[in-house]
Order: sequence, then C-alpha cells, then structure tokens
Amino acid sequence: MKILVARDYQHMSRLGACVVTAVLKGKPNLVLGLATGATPLGLYRELVKLYQEGRLDFSRVTTFNLDEYYGLSSSDPHSYHYYMEENFFRHINIRRENIHLPPGQPGDVAAACAAYEAAIAAAGGIDLQILGIGRNGHIGFNEPGAALNARTHLIDLAPETILANARFFASIDAVPRQAISMGMGSIMKARRILLLASGRDKAAAVAAALEGPVTTMVPASLLQLHPGVTVVLDRAAAEKLHSVVKGGGTWPACC
Ligand code: PGA
Repeated sequence: MKILVARDYQHMSRLGACVVTAVLKGKPNLVLGLATGATPLGLYRELVKLYQEGRLDFSRVTTFNLDEYYGLSSSDPHSYHYYMEENFFRHINIRRENIHLPPGQPGDVAAACAAYEAAIAAAGGIDLQILGIGRNGHIGFNEPGAALNARTHLIDLAPETILANARFFASIDAVPRQAISMGMGSIMKARRILLLASGRDKAAAVAAALEGPVTTMVPASLLQLHPGVTVVLDRAAAEKLHSVVKGGGTWPACC
C-alpha cells in the first residue's frame, strides 16, 4: 500500500488526479470505478481542468460508479446519477453508452444487481477504482457488520451514514434509507485502487482502516489485503496514523 500525505484538500485532489492521469495515459480505454460524496469533488474538478487543457481524453473510457441511493430517479438532484452528470460527465468527452451507475429505481433488484456485475465483467473488470471512506470505515455503501456482501446488492444504510449524508439533503428524514452498492468483492477485484480522504473527522476511520486489524467491522480495512492500493490523504485525515512518515512516499511525477 502506498500512502501519500498531501498538504490540504486541493493538494490531495491534485495528487489523486495525477494518479488517474498516469493510469489513463497508460491505458486510453481505461475502465474507471467512480465514487461520489464530498471527497472526490476536487478530483473531478482537476480531471475536468486537465481535459479542458487538452491533456486528457475520456473518449475511450468506461466508468462504473460504486453506488446509488435506492428509490431516487436519475433526475433527482440528490441522486448520484445527477451528481456525476453535474460534477464530471457533462464536462468531459465520455461516451454516454460507456457510463454505468447502479439504477436507483430497478424493477427487479436482484436482476439489476446481477446485470451490473455482468456489465463490469463484460467491460473486462475495473482497472482503477476511486474510493472515499465513511466515518464508520465504509467503502461504497458497504457498512460495518458481522458479514459483508461480495457483490452488488441492496443495503440498509447505517444510522451514522444517514446522519453524515443529511448535510446534502433538506433534512435527515429526506435521506434514503437504502442504497444499491457494489460489494466488497466487486471493489477488491479492481486492479488498482485509489482511496482519498480529507479532514480530521476521517482520521479515526483512516487509522482503523490502514493500521488496525482487518475486520468486517471496518470494511476499508480489507484494502490492506489488496496489492495495488494508493491512499492519498490530507494532513488532517492522516493525523492518527502512526507508521506513516507524513509527507513521505514517492510522489507521482506530474506533481
Ligand atoms: P464523503 O463520503 O466524501 O461525503 O465524506 C465518503 C463516504 O461516505 O464514502
């Protein structure tokens, strides 16, 4: 696992964009796993900027998002379909048919989940998966528990996730209680993983994930078992780590 500690959120976003750029340059038909939430917004801004400067081409890229709220239509401003469109897709030259998110309103949940897994496999698997981390250590919407799901599935959101995400909604009552999320197996099968975390309120989850025991109670701790993980943190998110030389690591050449 490679851990980079950036100065601040903007620097974390730039380093993250460097990692994506390096992988995309090496494979123009990249299969890219995407995340939502507050954390990757700066990364998307950086990638859009690089595209606008003519330094990145998304015309052959295929994307698969981690998750979507269950029950929201893709035109709902709170949906992740909407988020991705607004913050990334409409600004770049990605082909519409190459964009994939779990459906928020599937007729048949099990069939939709199986179809999502099949689409990932048909694309050749995910080359690079971008992840944020929840304050409870979740990745995607794989919440802590005695057992974790391997594949794309419908999941009940943990109370702390509902609380954390209430800031994006008019009230906590408006936050959906369920989501469709890639499973831990879907995430762990990605060839490379880029985990981003920013802010002091993520420091405990980051320390538990990177330095604590591998446990289903901290889903992100399973990343310790993946051979191709790069973690980019800002200083605040790295605050509780013991073994990391802050500011250390090999920085991507473009940064
Ligand atoms: P955030 O969410 O980026 O909005 O903090 C991350 C997550 O819950 O995975």
